[in-house]
Amino acid sequence: MATEQTTGQPSESISSVLSERRKFPPPEAFSSKSHISSMEQYEKLYADAAADPDKYWGELAGQFHWFKPWDSVLEWNAPFAKWFNGGKTNISYNCLDVHVNSWRKNKAAIIWEGEEGNERILTYGELHRQVSKFANVLKIAGIKPGDRVAIYMGMVPELIIAVLACARVGAVHNVIFAGFAAHAITERVNDSRAKMVICADGTRRRGGSINLKNIVDEAIVNTPSIRNVIVLKVTNEKITMHDGMDHWWHDLMGLAEDECEAVQLDSEHPLFLLYTSGSTGKPKGILHTTGGYMVHAASSFKYVFDIKDEDIYFCTADIGWITGHSYMVYGPLLNGATVFMYEGAPNYPQWDRFWDIINRHKITIFYTAPTAIRAFIRAGNEWVTKHDLRSLRLLGTVGEPINPEAWMWYHKYVGQEKCPIVDTWWQTETGGIMVSPMPGATPTKPGTATRSLPGIMVDVVRKDGTACEANEGGYLVIKQPWPSMLRTIYGDDERYEKTYWSEFPGMYFTGDGARKDDDGYIWIMGRVDDVVNVSGHRLGTSEVESALVSHEAVAEAAVVSRPDDIKGNALVAFVTLKDGYEGDAKLRDALGKHVAKEIGAIAKPDEIKWAKGLPKTRSGKIMRRLLRELASSNEIKGDVTTLEDIGVIENLREQEDE
Ligand code: WTA
Repeated sequence: MATEQTTGQPSESISSVLSERRKFPPPEAFSSKSHISSMEQYEKLYADAAADPDKYWGELAGQFHWFKPWDSVLEWNAPFAKWFNGGKTNISYNCLDVHVNSWRKNKAAIIWEGEEGNERILTYGELHRQVSKFANVLKIAGIKPGDRVAIYMGMVPELIIAVLACARVGAVHNVIFAGFAAHAITERVNDSRAKMVICADGTRRRGGSINLKNIVDEAIVNTPSIRNVIVLKVTNEKITMHDGMDHWWHDLMGLAEDECEAVQLDSEHPLFLLYTSGSTGKPKGILHTTGGYMVHAASSFKYVFDIKDEDIYFCTADIGWITGHSYMVYGPLLNGATVFMYEGAPNYPQWDRFWDIINRHKITIFYTAPTAIRAFIRAGNEWVTKHDLRSLRLLGTVGEPINPEAWMWYHKYVGQEKCPIVDTWWQTETGGIMVSPMPGATPTKPGTATRSLPGIMVDVVRKDGTACEANEGGYLVIKQPWPSMLRTIYGDDERYEKTYWSEFPGMYFTGDGARKDDDGYIWIMGRVDDVVNVSGHRLGTSEVESALVSHEAVAEAAVVSRPDDIKGNALVAFVTLKDGYEGDAKLRDALGKHVAKEIGAIAKPDEIKWAKGLPKTRSGKIMRRLLRELASSNEIKGDVTTLEDIGVIENLREQEDE
């Protein structure tokens, strides 16, 4: 962080949101029935947790099943944490067995709807049986506690079954978003030295299908650690099954026993890896462990979504992202909730698919991303208004700042002016929600995630680490360890320490800029590093750059973002070609396809500009600030005194007039 290109960014973006003054207290009808029903109750919890964090977290942890109690709540050897050390538990046991041993045995755990409208319902009892069977499959295949297993499939219940089966036997799951390309799988499998890939033959998307198995075949040519691939039949793709390596899911399940005891694992046993973009180099394998993650994923879900047994909760995130892990799988199932899972695209067959689902299934809680809301606004109000959404009682957003206009639309058209909205700020690294309204207590304001959860100590600080005044833009930090924090970057403690704990000594640095307003509410101003949020998905501009440079025609590339009405940010690539190549429409198209192939379609630049040279400082650093200005306004206002060759800017500008 603190690179020249980010200097000053926080204070510049403050003015845009300072004017927001609307405030929405939670409706009395909601508050009176909620877990946290007043600000007094929230303040008390917050103060108690701050005064004695061990007691606060210890009491929450006590609500779970532990095979053996912990010796200490937290051992903090900065920046390395051990939560509930000495304790033994199993998160799959807490998601399943606990409920199967209660009246919830026959309660729906997952209600699933396929893109074509087909439905499946898995009760807790049935999910428990399927997970146990698949856990036996993993054991038969030689998977041992601590082994890494990659999972690459679309949004079908078996994805949840695979995840929970890994947790049951102590294998470390690494879910890879099914929109990623072969190269991304190879990179993740090799970094984690995974032994197995669990995939589907294909996945449905907008009436068609994508062949996933072929992508896996291509990816594992270069992954010596992979011993087996288990393939679930979903779309009947034409695929090749390789003898010895590939096995059908249904064949193996046919052989496996129904019962599989959950392995008693140390609280700090690794639970999963999830790769996410950083500001430099390759994606980081964020490592989460068992006990602490369980405690915060579950308790944050309970309080933020005010979950009740009668609810049907619909989260639109893909399980390939952290939101899917914490708030489609673990958080809801740990609470014995009913989760609604949808396989496909929000606009298939048309733009009212979500509203139609909410109406038919009587969804009560709906959690989605601002980028989706903006796309719905553009599609037109009539798609929403023609459906009866009265079953809804609570709405949520995640992934990026929500602009007040989108918030107001969500409030009016989806929430019918009666549902509180929880704008939840968190990260892959935090494992669970850190900043969010308590829906029955916190008065909300459009555009802010409001205040941190009890036990979570966030602050906005200056470069020197001192706290900012109200309304002064600064850097968002977390001042104390929390149970679901990442434990390290897989295999790279040094990078972990450097990325998160070196910028502000003694504090976790989030990479986000923010300010606190007069009420102490936190307004996120976006990333201050070279990570960009595109449609709620986190991308490192350097990853896109290296994908571009790996194309034979490209000499150098710089990727920056510019604001975009729907996606939040759009990617603009400045590309310098090697001699002998012509920057034309055909090459532009080829480069877009190349990036899609290297990383995935979400990383495709929205615009490619040809550059004779890239603006650099005298020390050779690309001046992204200038490129950002050029990309969004075609003007350079800032200081260019460190620019090595002012001519390159002129050249880039000229291109605009072509
Ligand atoms: C951004 C997603 C504003 C932020 C759970 C963060 C948000 C990054 C919000 C993490 C929000 C997430 N308001 N910004 N409510 N939620 N962000 O790891 O920049 O995919 O650092 O985790 O998304 O993205 P990630």
